[in-house]
Amino acid sequence: MSFLEIKGLHASVGEKEILKGVDLTVNAGEVHVIMGPNGSGKSTLSNVIAGHPAYHVTSGSIFFKGKDLLAMTPDERANTGVFLAFQTPTELPGVGTALFLKTALNAKKKFLGEKPLDAVQFMKRLKTRAQALGVTDEMLKRAVNVGFSGGEKKRMETFQMAFLEPDFCILDEMDSGLDIDALKTVGDGINVLREPHRSFLMITHFQRLLEYVVPDYIHIMIDGKIVRSGDKTLAEQLEERGYEEFK
Ligand SMILES: Nc1ncnc2c1ncn2[C@@H]1O[C@H](COP(=O)(O)OP(=O)(O)O)[C@@H](O)[C@H]1O
Ligand SMILES: [Mg+2]
Repeated sequence: MSFLEIKGLHASVGEKEILKGVDLTVNAGEVHVIMGPNGSGKSTLSNVIAGHPAYHVTSGSIFFKGKDLLAMTPDERANTGVFLAFQTPTELPGVGTALFLKTALNAKKKFLGEKPLDAVQFMKRLKTRAQALGVTDEMLKRAVNVGFSGGEKKRMETFQMAFLEPDFCILDEMDSGLDIDALKTVGDGINVLREPHRSFLMITHFQRLLEYVVPDYIHIMIDGKIVRSGDKTLAEQLEERGYEEFK
């Protein structure tokens, strides 16, 4: 049984077909990277895996840990271990960050038939993870993402991921708009989460994140399809020559 298996995936937004037959297998413990020009369908693939209602799967399948992911609601997918760090994190005015994370974690524990964390356990976990990712007490006191800079939002997404400990982490352009220090923090945050039971799908335009987080596979997506897969050298090739030769 594969960890994640995507077969012949076609998906549309409204009338427009965006994914035109995606095949992708991710084994437990692997880091996969998807690169591709703007509009090639990278975010669409992430959204389809997470269960965004605007995207309609017209054919194909996604199995995650042996379960039919497409038959699940977005919250069931999250509780089963899928986490999507957004390309553009949403601000949630009035929703405190700590309460948001506590609610999310305990909902997941309930779904899995585990005991909820008590206040002491929760605070301990929150503080440890926050510290590791340079998330300050002051940031934790604010409403989710409200008034955060682009870099702080990305840091916050990585922190939420570290806190919730998902099995499959999708990072959509986590590195865009980050300065080199923030990039390193985010990279470190990803690396501490690398474990044999956890896998990553990272979408990026740039090679620089890959200097911190060394991937197992790189895939190139063009016009809704993965047109080439390879190792880290593929990213170097792209950096030099661009996407033209893969079209
Ligand atoms: N919610 C949406 N409504 C309409 N069109 C969309 C939507 N999401 C994506 N698209 C279109 O689908 C195509 C692929 O977009 P996207 O998946 O965001 O590409 P990428 O992340 O690779 O830049 C684009 O042409 C985009 O305009
Ligand atoms: Mg995108």
